Amino acid sequence: MSALLDEQRGLLEQLVNPQRVRRAGRTFWCGQWAGQEVVLVLSKVGKVAAATTTTVLIEAFDVKRVVFTGVAGGVGAGVKVGDVVVAEAFIQHDLNSAPLFPRYEIPLYGRATLDCDPALSAALLAATHLGLAGVGDHFHRSLLLEAPVVHRGLIASGDQFVCDPSAAALMRADLQAAGHEPLAVEMEGAAVAQVCHDYGVPFAAMRTISDRADAQAHLDFSAFVTQVASPYALAVLGQFIKHQ
Ligand code: ADE
Repeated sequence: MSALLDEQRGLLEQLVNPQRVRRAGRTFWCGQWAGQEVVLVLSKVGKVAAATTTTVLIEAFDVKRVVFTGVAGGVGAGVKVGDVVVAEAFIQHDLNSAPLFPRYEIPLYGRATLDCDPALSAALLAATHLGLAGVGDHFHRSLLLEAPVVHRGLIASGDQFVCDPSAAALMRADLQAAGHEPLAVEMEGAAVAQVCHDYGVPFAAMRTISDRADAQAHLDFSAFVTQVASPYALAVLGQFIKHQ
């Protein structure tokens, strides 16, 4: 699953015997890749849209694992544009039912963060290292990017595109005050994680850092997705699928 078509374009071309199925206003592409049955779908943007997509994936397509690839804004120290974050867990940075429940806690779940599946995430992390090594240094250099660093940690999701350094700093400081250290911010992962948690379906996610959630965040966003995030997703998932 990815949020945007540009993030998934290269993956669609890998599908053997692709079958198009429409459900809930979404297009699901079913087919085989490296001998595995896979379904490719766009989550659409935001937590509700991503939750709907994930529910349909599980209920109608009976998927056994969910993997998300896409882009995110870097908010952790040293998480720079072109780096990759493999999620350990997700939190909703805009969830606040205080004083009924502690800030960030998902009401009636008794927790604020939801972990990704350790085994699936370990496989995605290994595939990320292999995939990025395969992409090669000349690729980053040609785009004036430094060699990507792969980070592991918490990703914060919310229904905002964060493009203001003071908003990003406040979000990070508030999360830190509650004991959470986010590396990146995006708009879908925590919702996918919650639906997967509810159904007991393993989930893993990797996000390429497209921006630093500041005033430049929207500049060259589409170009970055097409030129960097999409080839990274293809390289990483190409490795991932081989080792499943
Ligand atoms: N996805 C990529 N960059 C983002 C940002 N700055 N805020 C939210 N989602 C994003």
